Amino acid sequence: MVPAEGGIVAPSKKYLNFIDGKWVPARSRKTFADINPANRDEGIGLFPESEPEDVELAVQAAERAFSEWRLVPPPKRGEILLKAGLLLKEKKEELARLMTREMGKVIRESRGDVQEAIDMALYISGEGRRLFGQTTTSELHDKFAMSVRMPVGVSGLITPWNFPTAIPSWKIFPALICGNTIIFKPAEDTPLCATKFVEILEEAGLPRGVLNLVHGGPSTGEAIVRHPRIRLISFTGSSEVGRLIGEHCGRALKRCALEMGGKNAQIVMGDADLDLALEGAVWGAFGTTGQRCTATSRIFVQEGIFPKFKKVFLERSRAVKIGNGLKKGVEMGPLINETQRKRVHEYVEIGKREGAKLEIGGRPARGKGLEKGFFYEATVFTGVDPKMRIAQEEIFGPVTCLMPFKRFEDAVRMVNDTPYGLSSSLYSRDVNFAMKAIRDIEAGITYINGPTIGAEVHLPFGGVKNTGNGHREAGQAAIDIFSEWKSVFVDYSDKLQKAQIDVD
Ligand code: UN1
Repeated sequence: MVPAEGGIVAPSKKYLNFIDGKWVPARSRKTFADINPANRDEGIGLFPESEPEDVELAVQAAERAFSEWRLVPPPKRGEILLKAGLLLKEKKEELARLMTREMGKVIRESRGDVQEAIDMALYISGEGRRLFGQTTTSELHDKFAMSVRMPVGVSGLITPWNFPTAIPSWKIFPALICGNTIIFKPAEDTPLCATKFVEILEEAGLPRGVLNLVHGGPSTGEAIVRHPRIRLISFTGSSEVGRLIGEHCGRALKRCALEMGGKNAQIVMGDADLDLALEGAVWGAFGTTGQRCTATSRIFVQEGIFPKFKKVFLERSRAVKIGNGLKKGVEMGPLINETQRKRVHEYVEIGKREGAKLEIGGRPARGKGLEKGFFYEATVFTGVDPKMRIAQEEIFGPVTCLMPFKRFEDAVRMVNDTPYGLSSSLYSRDVNFAMKAIRDIEAGITYINGPTIGAEVHLPFGGVKNTGNGHREAGQAAIDIFSEWKSVFVDYSDKLQKAQIDVD
């Protein structure tokens, strides 16, 4: 057994992998422990530490299942997904409570996470009756041309812990509707949410072998990425890991969709509704304890209103109520684990060394009921040069930088001056600024008068520059990741017609 962080007493309940329609342990019988980040003494369960041989068994099952699943009419696949969506709805509260125990986000947000999966199931199940291709003309007589979507094959889906139900749903549901079979490896910090998700698909009637759950850590993920018969990798997580995955998939000529970091900014113009901008900034910066790739980690405020905004923002941020996310009134739960808390704290130290001014926070949160969790205070820096590391690198914690600007163009320039380009937001009541922000901000998502978080499932999700590798999840874009195009020509002329060759 791999000891859990902090050497806590391991929880006894054992969970399993799901391979070929059966719940099984890792061949090696090794396990790892999953704990509650709000209380490290509370064990959630022991999960299989899978090795390449477990991945191999899962791939064999997925290959066998693929030969039939690819032939199931997509509307029938859609019916299974619809059923899964309705089951998620029925179990929403139970799943949300488990999620808060397992990864710490406050219960309202956990409900939102499950809701995103419900929305995705309902949206993508209808795609079974669409999966549109094109019918088009032919350059020759008596010839018909069209393009159709085909599944890619066995797909490896590797998901993070910050949206333990929503993000798997963004990958699994579209992969299934397109006729792929799956090896699913969830993050080590949230294996229970993943287990519950797979149970729901099993209950919804997914045939055996179509979805295989393989728990484990980085080496399990690596075995999936390196497996020669897995045709597609979809990964959400850090840029460091994504880059390695992308490199490997590039060499192996594997289809690969990466969704990674962000350094998202909110711009507040002098004419903005200040209360609204303030609420948006607090929610964007500290929602999910800043552990969203869409979190607002930079806030640019126009000079004239900067002092006023700063005063109220600091007051409001200082008052963010920290605690166990199941408790009423709590606004911010813990960070996911001690490693993450150390990382966040290191960034705070870096910011101080760089000469930024730590206005509030910057340390683990203390107080009654917080002793055993990975809590961290809401943290705000001012005096930040946009070139500083705290303004350039993704921190993934409740840390944000407040920076003034003079003209709209200056703000846009600073917003764009990072390696990332996921989400962005502008608060203004001037339509011209709004239209220019939409045009000029280099990001996959721009909100006008809304925070940088809260994307909806029927629109493309993803970013430019180092945020990804050019793909988008969700919406119609998800279908593009999980299907191959085939062009089809039917010649009914009864003679050999040669395209692109002049007739004598
Ligand atoms: C993420 O943080 O990886 O838009 C996803 C949002 C959520 C999804 C975030 N719907 O903030």
